[in-house]
Amino acid sequence: MDCFPDIRLRRMRQTAAMRRMLAAPFPGPERFMWPVFVVAGNGVCEPIDAMPGQFRYSVDHLLEALKPVVALGIGGVLIFGLAEDDRKDANGSYAFNSKGPVQAAVRAVRKAFPELLVFTDVCLCAYTLHGHCGPLDEQGDVSNDMADALLSKVALSHAEAGAHGVAPSAMMDGQVAAIREALDDEGFSNTILMSYSTKFASAMYGPFREAEKSSPQSGDRKGYQAAYGDLSTALRESDMDEAEGADILMVKPSLFYLDVLSKLRERTDLPIAAYNVSGEYAMLIATADRGWGDLHEMVRESIVALDRAGADIIISYWANQYSQFAEA
Ligand code: PBG
Ligand code: ZN
Repeated sequence: MDCFPDIRLRRMRQTAAMRRMLAAPFPGPERFMWPVFVVAGNGVCEPIDAMPGQFRYSVDHLLEALKPVVALGIGGVLIFGLAEDDRKDANGSYAFNSKGPVQAAVRAVRKAFPELLVFTDVCLCAYTLHGHCGPLDEQGDVSNDMADALLSKVALSHAEAGAHGVAPSAMMDGQVAAIREALDDEGFSNTILMSYSTKFASAMYGPFREAEKSSPQSGDRKGYQAAYGDLSTALRESDMDEAEGADILMVKPSLFYLDVLSKLRERTDLPIAAYNVSGEYAMLIATADRGWGDLHEMVRESIVALDRAGADIIISYWANQYSQFAEA
């Protein structure tokens, strides 16, 4: 008889010791990747308004900021670069400049912290004048195949700088195959390819776009990022990237997409990363600031949700504050 009063589920919840005994462990620091924003120059450590606790760093400050993070045992970083306005052009060519901030940061971080995984975001939107993730054709649409060629150059420049892995986020068709081929042709067959495979056109990227100064100047990204109402196509995006040779798949955002994460978990044996995006980060901070929720508890609950839904890798701005949330 499977029902009350013979079964009383509360029996097992009465002591903290029993609850703890049955709970999956809080994800360890080695499963986290910290997204960081890097600018050119020296001496820059600029707070990002919409993302309290996060900064735009020049390489020297990034190394300082990483010391405690590496000491905590955080698994890796995901590096984003910013370009000054006068560096931006129609093709985003500063993104593959070997002297750019990402390339410089990769070289410096690899040298300073040999045990830390160094991944880079591969996109053009922070480097194009129009703010789209690829170049525009005569009609003003993002040209998919031209974007693939440019993204391949960006990935190659990051691999040459020493990145362990590259993470294309532009949502162009064929970008994974194009980048894999470019890397292999140049002898970078060991560079890991983590695809932003199921990335939705989401309203949760606002704080990031402020941090990166990468908002589209006109239009939006709905023509290339996945539609959140269309689950089957969203999953096919990941299937296709797996077929094109991705080593790691990703669901982004993550907290509004736990169903997608768990469905993808059933479909693939590849590692899956969940990108706990800027809007999800800012949302919890804003709630806590108003006194409407306890930050420590909300962060822990959200991280456990990502683990439970099937994420292997947690890409999160909480990573640099991990020690504050690790303990119950
Ligand atoms: C750019 C990119 C975005 C994010 C990661 N890479 C923004 C976008 O697609 O507009 C969002 C990350 C976040 O919100 O934390 N290709
Ligand atoms: Zn982009």
